[in-house]
Amino acid sequence: MKKPTNQKVLVRFNGALLLVGAGKMGSAMLDGWLARGLKPKQIAVIEPHAGKAVKALARRGLKLNPKGKVDAATAIVIAVKPQIASGAVPQLAAHVDKNTLVLSIMAGRTIGFLEKFLPPGTAIVRAMPNTPAAIGRGISVAAANANVSARQRKQASELLAAIGKVEWIGDEALMDAVTALSGSGPAYVFLLAEAMASAGIAAGLPPALATRLARETVAGSGELLHRSDLDAATLRENVTSPGGTTAAALDVLMGPDGFDQLLTRAIAAATQRSRELAG
Ligand SMILES: NC(=O)c1ccc[n+]([C@@H]2O[C@H](COP(=O)([O-])OP(=O)(O)OC[C@H]3O[C@@H](n4cnc5c(N)ncnc54)[C@H](OP(=O)(O)O)[C@@H]3O)[C@@H](O)[C@H]2O)c1
Repeated sequence: MKKPTNQKVLVRFNGALLLVGAGKMGSAMLDGWLARGLKPKQIAVIEPHAGKAVKALARRGLKLNPKGKVDAATAIVIAVKPQIASGAVPQLAAHVDKNTLVLSIMAGRTIGFLEKFLPPGTAIVRAMPNTPAAIGRGISVAAANANVSARQRKQASELLAAIGKVEWIGDEALMDAVTALSGSGPAYVFLLAEAMASAGIAAGLPPALATRLARETVAGSGELLHRSDLDAATLRENVTSPGGTTAAALDVLMGPDGFDQLLTRAIAAATQRSRELAG
């Protein structure tokens, strides 16, 4: 079984961190940073409608919507909705100097888009997380522009690790396929739980029981996959006896027009939609 990673890496973070947007994702990141050793007094938050947790942190030294002269931040994390980016990003230029790392998790907003609003030479990382970030179990994929140093790349990894695992890509164009796989992916897994419940009902189970069985089967299998060193195919083979019940179902799921073909089409459609939305 896998070992836990170092939990307190952010005690090494020197300087100030500015979080822009403390909604679902921003708050999840904030919780993760504090758990990993960042101090409230190192953090400033820009958020028009701060929740109770952020207000409580403001009483412990976090700067909420700071006014007056602004200092450059060591890192700025942008977690506002993509639709309001053109309003929120330009004012961040005042917090940027040549050492600042800008990390954006806005879906569909490219590095080129951010560069238009920030000073020339700004180090920018664009990342795509996913919903399990809310429980620290997301996966983010990150891409950097040429101004990001090795130290800043490590810093971005440590900030993103607060909400789960981190992968890097060299080619930002892959972000559309990433969005289609891991960004939108949690919805496919939830749909699997829904479809299994419906199929159980069709097979004669009471609806409430079918729903519980489907939910726990998806959640438990996900947890087993998470904790195991074995890959998904091996875990699947381990529960499939030749000629048994699982094999009968897999003959259907892995047959023509089965899971593989369906998901290939679904992910191609999401990739295409992501390209269209990015413009
Ligand atoms: N949720 C996901 O699973 C997911 C996955 C991948 C990527 N993302 C990306 O993560 C980003 C945040 O998503 P979310 O789900 O956390 O959205 P959210 O809950 O709506 O959070 C955005 C927050 O930003 C605040 N805000 C609005 N205008 C602002 C401004 N000018 N300056 C600072 N803060 C402002 C919003 O306040 P109000 O509510 O008062 O407007 C809200 O609290 C999005 O860009 C999204 O594309 C999310």
